[in-house]
Amino acid sequence: MSTHIAAKKEDVAPLVLLPGDPLRAKFIAENFLENAVCYNTVRGAFGFTGRYKGSRVSVQSTGMGAPSISIYANELFKEYGVKKAIRIGTAGAIQKDLNARDLVIALSASTDSAINPRRFNGGSYAACACFKLLRAAYQAAQNAGIEPHCGGVFTTDLFYDENCAWKIWARYGALAVEMETAELYTLAAKFGVSALSILTISDSLVTGESLESGERERGFKQMMSVGLETLIAP
Ligand code: HPA
Repeated sequence: MSTHIAAKKEDVAPLVLLPGDPLRAKFIAENFLENAVCYNTVRGAFGFTGRYKGSRVSVQSTGMGAPSISIYANELFKEYGVKKAIRIGTAGAIQKDLNARDLVIALSASTDSAINPRRFNGGSYAACACFKLLRAAYQAAQNAGIEPHCGGVFTTDLFYDENCAWKIWARYGALAVEMETAELYTLAAKFGVSALSILTISDSLVTGESLESGERERGFKQMMSVGLETLIAP
């Protein structure tokens, strides 16, 4: 039992997939897991544990933004002993050669969030992925016939940003913008957890391209199975 997760420690598996959207967590439990049991409904942040290809895995929704994923990651890592955590989510492309439906594996996450300067006394922290998970995800994507983009992402606090802050991060090589990875990677480092973000491009801030809902669904299913394959890789 933690503040935001009403489960016993043993109800949550050491391997966790982290979608932002609670309904996506439910979809994964219903379509990819065997014998899935819901262990959390607090604030509608559904969490399920079941089996994927024989391995016990959990799927916990994190909500949107760094403060929200921070709450769930802190509790999962500190109270539930989670060892591997893979975020699956959407991101906006900020390079012109990335298109809607492309898969991005986040090598690192720069951020404009105030959380890390506060945590590191004004310093900026190089939040980076677990190499072993990254390699497994790259392999899982290739096995599924997908060539993923691997590179830095920009974790922002503002979805609706009138100042287009993403442009300077794009100028320095970030591939896509999203809202959670920097905090996930930072907390994973703190607690000795292996973490990775696998992202599907849902829209492009460069071209204005945006996925219609059917295409969104197909891209998400691909990402879910790449995420699960990565989670259970040795
Ligand atoms: N901004 C932030 N997060 C996102 C976006 C975006 O444009 N698209 C998908 N996630």
